[in-house]
Amino acid sequence: MKLQDKVGYITGGTKGIGLGIAESMLQGGMRVAITGRDGASAQKVATKLEKQYGIEVLAIGSNVRSLEEEQKAIAQVIEKWGRIDVVIANAGVGHFASITEMTDEQWHDTIDINLTGVFHTTKASMDALINSKGYLITIASLAGTNFFQRGAAYNASKFGLVGFTQAVMLDVRDQGVKVSTIMPGSVATYFNGHIPNDADAWKIQPEDIGQLTMDLLKMDSRALPSKVEIRPTMPPKK
Ligand SMILES: NC(=O)c1ccc[n+]([C@@H]2O[C@H](COP(=O)([O-])OP(=O)(O)OC[C@H]3O[C@@H](n4cnc5c(N)ncnc54)[C@H](OP(=O)(O)O)[C@@H]3O)[C@@H](O)[C@H]2O)c1
Repeated sequence: MKLQDKVGYITGGTKGIGLGIAESMLQGGMRVAITGRDGASAQKVATKLEKQYGIEVLAIGSNVRSLEEEQKAIAQVIEKWGRIDVVIANAGVGHFASITEMTDEQWHDTIDINLTGVFHTTKASMDALINSKGYLITIASLAGTNFFQRGAAYNASKFGLVGFTQAVMLDVRDQGVKVSTIMPGSVATYFNGHIPNDADAWKIQPEDIGQLTMDLLKMDSRALPSKVEIRPTMPPKK
């Protein structure tokens, strides 16, 4: 894909991995729309990016829990730029608790955002991606293949997301739409209330996921890395 002026839509682009991908896209000459739950906060991030990169960035308040909000967000991008070439379904949360402690609310928050939320984004954007012969990338996790204690909700959401993404890939690849899932290990972000700090130096950084995303987008149309694991090279010894 030639990326200059192509339009990218990133859910959860206000911080962490989504923001890292937005910056890589802007550096690559793409036009970018970012979402977060709150439009005003997303606009603050967009204004910073605009100052830094000298390109207009569209900020949209859309909660991925709502199909209607995602449909409106996609419509807003198409109204502005007439197309969408790349969708990054990234918005996600983490609640970690053993099954005896996990609340109904934590379970639903995790599944409704990490799994059903990606379905909403995919459903809302697929016609546009078919029109542009575009690219959908979901941000799953190594937790989509490795299960762990206190991970019942998160593992369920990410195992589900990996399966969802692979099935969608088979649904639309013959219509010229590429679909991949990126499955990161630990990334230095604000995930689950974390504040990135110096001790995170060993972790993958958001810009690494940005670089990986751009590498996928640039790959020749005949080749499709449909499931990509990325992990820190040197995690701390246990
Ligand atoms: N960090 C890691 O180690 C790691 C590893 C593997 C996979 N992941 C995955 O990477 C993705 C991004 O996480 P991150 O690490 O970058 O975390 P983060 O720094 O906390 O960022 C999460 C982003 O998601 C947005 N978001 C949360 N709930 C949303 C909702 N209901 N609707 C729309 N946007 C929502 C947040 O925006 P607002 O706060 O502005 O609403 C924020 O931009 C998640 O799917 C996560 O599971 C993370």
